[in-house]
Amino acid sequence: MTRHVQPIQCIGCPTGCGGEVIIENGAVVEARGFTCDVGRAYAAEEVVAPKRMVTTTVRVNGGALPLLPVVSDRPILKGSISACLRLLRSVTATAPIAADSVVLADALGLGVNFLASRDCAESFDAPQWGETRQADVAIEPADQALAALGQMHDATSVSAEAEVELADNVAAPWHDPSLPISERMAMAAGKPLAMRMMAAMAQQDCRQCGYDCAGYANALVLQEEERLTLCATGGKETARVLKQLVAEIGSGGAASADVAVRASAAAQPAEVGTSRDNPKEAKFLSRRRLNGAGSSKTTWHIEFDVSAGGLDYIVGDSFGVFPKNHPEFVDQVIATLGADPGHDVGGKSLREALIADVSLGAAPDNLFRLFSYLVGGERRAKARALANGEDPDGDAATLDVLAALNKFEGARPDAEAFLEALDPLEPRLYSISSSLKANPGRVGLTVDAVRYRVGARDRHGVASTFLGERVATGEVVKAYVQKAHGFRLPDNPDAPVVMIGPGVGVAPFRAFLQERQAVGARGRNWLLFGHQHRRCDFFYEDEFEAMRKSGLLTCLSLAWSRDGDQKVYVQDRMREAGSELWRWLAEGAHVYVCGDAKRMARDVERALLEIAIEHDARSIEEAVNFVAGLKEAGRYQADVY
Ligand SMILES: Cc1cc2nc3c(=O)[nH]c(=O)nc-3n(C[C@H](O)[C@H](O)[C@H](O)COP(=O)(O)OP(=O)(O)OC[C@H]3O[C@@H](n4cnc5c(N)ncnc54)[C@H](O)[C@@H]3O)c2cc1C
Ligand SMILES: NC(=O)c1ccc[n+]([C@@H]2O[C@H](COP(=O)([O-])OP(=O)(O)OC[C@H]3O[C@@H](n4cnc5c(N)ncnc54)[C@H](OP(=O)(O)O)[C@@H]3O)[C@@H](O)[C@H]2O)c1
Ligand code: SF4
Repeated sequence: MTRHVQPIQCIGCPTGCGGEVIIENGAVVEARGFTCDVGRAYAAEEVVAPKRMVTTTVRVNGGALPLLPVVSDRPILKGSISACLRLLRSVTATAPIAADSVVLADALGLGVNFLASRDCAESFDAPQWGETRQADVAIEPADQALAALGQMHDATSVSAEAEVELADNVAAPWHDPSLPISERMAMAAGKPLAMRMMAAMAQQDCRQCGYDCAGYANALVLQEEERLTLCATGGKETARVLKQLVAEIGSGGAASADVAVRASAAAQPAEVGTSRDNPKEAKFLSRRRLNGAGSSKTTWHIEFDVSAGGLDYIVGDSFGVFPKNHPEFVDQVIATLGADPGHDVGGKSLREALIADVSLGAAPDNLFRLFSYLVGGERRAKARALANGEDPDGDAATLDVLAALNKFEGARPDAEAFLEALDPLEPRLYSISSSLKANPGRVGLTVDAVRYRVGARDRHGVASTFLGERVATGEVVKAYVQKAHGFRLPDNPDAPVVMIGPGVGVAPFRAFLQERQAVGARGRNWLLFGHQHRRCDFFYEDEFEAMRKSGLLTCLSLAWSRDGDQKVYVQDRMREAGSELWRWLAEGAHVYVCGDAKRMARDVERALLEIAIEHDARSIEEAVNFVAGLKEAGRYQADVY
C-alpha cells in the first residue's frame, strides 16, 4: 500500500486555510487541518483533479465586484444556492453574504462555481494563482443576470426573497412516535414538502440524525443535507418515503416554492467532537455488567477516557459512538457472497470495509435492486418488489444483509457493487450516565446489548454488542458529544427534581445525581426506577442505596415488572404516590422521563395527567393544559428513544 501526505492550501474563501490530505493508493482517505467543509472538499478534489487557480475580477454594473469562488463542483454546491450561502457564510467573516446573493455557476468557464453578492462590501483576490480573467456581468436585478448567464442550476424563476414553508413541532399533529408512518403521512397529506418529510421521520426528536425531526426535514428541503438514511430510528420505511418526496424538489410541481432561496441563519462549522460529522477519538476503558445471575438482559456500564479533550459534556448530553460490525458476522457475509476478503476496494480490503463502513442490518432497497439485475424469472420479480418496499413472501422485516444474500443465493454481485448498494454504518447515541465533575476525564454509559433470534439465527445489535462485547480496553473509537436540547437540570439548584427512568432510561439520572452531589445542590431528588427483577436488574443498586442513606436521594421508588403475578411499572408507583408527587409539583419540581419512547413515555405522561385530575379535581382538558404548561416552562423534559 502506498501512503503519503500532501499539504494543500484551500482557496475556498479569503481565510485561505491550509491543511493536508492523506492519500492511500492514489485515493484520498482523509483531509485534515482545514477549518471547514469547503476546505476538506476542496482538498479532496484538488488531489483528484487539480483546478486552475485564477484571479477573478468581474465587472458588475460598471464597477468591480469581488466574487467568492466555490471550489467544489459537488452537486450540493452546484445545485443549491442555500447550501452555497450556508457554507460560504460559515467560512467567510470578511465578506458578508447577503440573502440576495446569487450563484454564478461557472460564469467564467473555469469549472468553478462563483457566488456574488450585490452587498459584498469587502474585496479580496488571489493574485498569486496564475492568470487573470475578466467578465462583464450586469447583476441587477439578480435574477435577470442569472437568466442572461443561462447557467443557473436552480430554476431562474426562483425569487431570492421567497420563503420556504418549513416544518416545526407546533403545527405537527403527526409528531407522535406512537403513530405508524402510514397514519403520519396521511395526516400530513397536502401539506408543504417539509412537513410531509417531517411526517416521514420517526418523531422521536432523538437527534441520532444530527437534527431534530423538523430540522432534518427542513435541511433536506433546503438542500443543506443530501443524506436520506440518517433517521436510523425510522429505518428503511422513512428512507423510502424520503426518497419519493425528495424527487419533488426542483420538479416545479407542488414543491416548487420549497426550492426557493432562503437566507438561513449562519451555520458555523461544528467544533470537533460535537457532531456526528466531526467526531473525535475516545479511548475505551472498561465495561462492567450491571445485571446479576439469572437476568434475561445483558446490560453494561461502559467507560471511555475523554481526558484528551474535545469531548467535554454536560449531564443530559448523549455520547455518539461509531461502532464496527462483528468480524465473524462479516466473514459469514463474505463467505455467502463468495468474495475474496482481501479484495481491494478503494484502498482497503473488502473485509475492512464491511467491518467499519457499511450497515449489515436491514437490507436496503438498493441491494434488492442490485439482485434484480442479477437474477431472473420469479426471483427477479421478487427482488424488484422488495426494492419497491413490497413484501412478496412476508419476510421483508427479517431480511438483514446476510438473510437477503441467502434469499437470493447465487446472485453473487461484484464486491464493489455490493458495497455500494449498502447503507453507511451510522453512529449510535447513548445517554451519558456520569457527571464530568464527579469523574474528570471520563464518560460513563449504560448500554443494553441488543440480542434476539430470528428463525435459526441469533441476531445482534451492532453498537450495543460492540460496546458490550467487542471493543478492547485501550482501543480508540470515533465518538462525539450530542448536546441535549431541553434535557437539563434546573438552573436553580434548590428546585426539586423527579426522575423517571426504567431500564437503561436510568442512565442520565445517575449523571444528574452525581452532578447534584458534586455541586452541593440542595434541591430534593426523587428517582423512579424499574426493571424486570429486583434480584438481578437493579442497576447501580449500591450507588443509589448509598445516595438514599446520605440523604441525596429523598425518594427512591422501585417497580419490578416480573417479580409478582402482576406487572408493576414506574407509572404504577407514580399513581400510588400521587399526592406526594402532586406536592412536589406544587413546590416547583421539574419532572424528567428517559427510556422507551413508544410505550413507556406515553404511559408515564398519562399517569401524570391522571394524578393532576385526581389531586386537583381538574377536568381532562385542564390536566392536559397543565402538563403542556409544565413542558412549556421546561419543567417536564423527556429524553426518549
Ligand atoms: C438519545 C438516545 C439515547 C440513547 N441512550 C441509550 C442508552 O442509554 N442505553 C442504551 O442501551 N441504548 C440507548 N439508546 C439506543 C441506542 O442508540 C441504540 O439504538 C441501541 O443500542 C441499539 O443499537 P445497536 O446498534 O446495538 O442495534 P442495531 O444494530 O441498530 O439493531 C437494532 C434493531 O434491531 C432490531 N431488533 C431489536 N430487538 C429486536 C427484537 N427483539 N426482535 C426483532 N428485531 C429486533 C430492530 O429493528 C432494531 O431497530 C439511545 C438512543 C438515543 C436516540
Ligand atoms: N422501541 C421499543 O419498543 C423499545 C422498548 C423498550 C426498550 N427498547 C430498547 O431495548 C433496549 C433495552 O431496554 P431496557 O434495558 O431499558 O429494558 P426495557 O425493555 O425498556 O425494560 C425496562 C423495564 O420497563 C418495563 N416496561 C415495559 N413496558 C413499559 C411501559 N409501557 N411503561 C413502563 N415500563 C415498561 C419493562 O417491563 P417488562 O419488559 O417486564 O414488560 C422493564 O421492567 C434499549 O436499547 C431500548 O432502546 C426499545
Ligand atoms: S433520527 Fe431521531 S431526530 Fe432524527 S429524524 Fe429520526 S427520529 Fe427524528
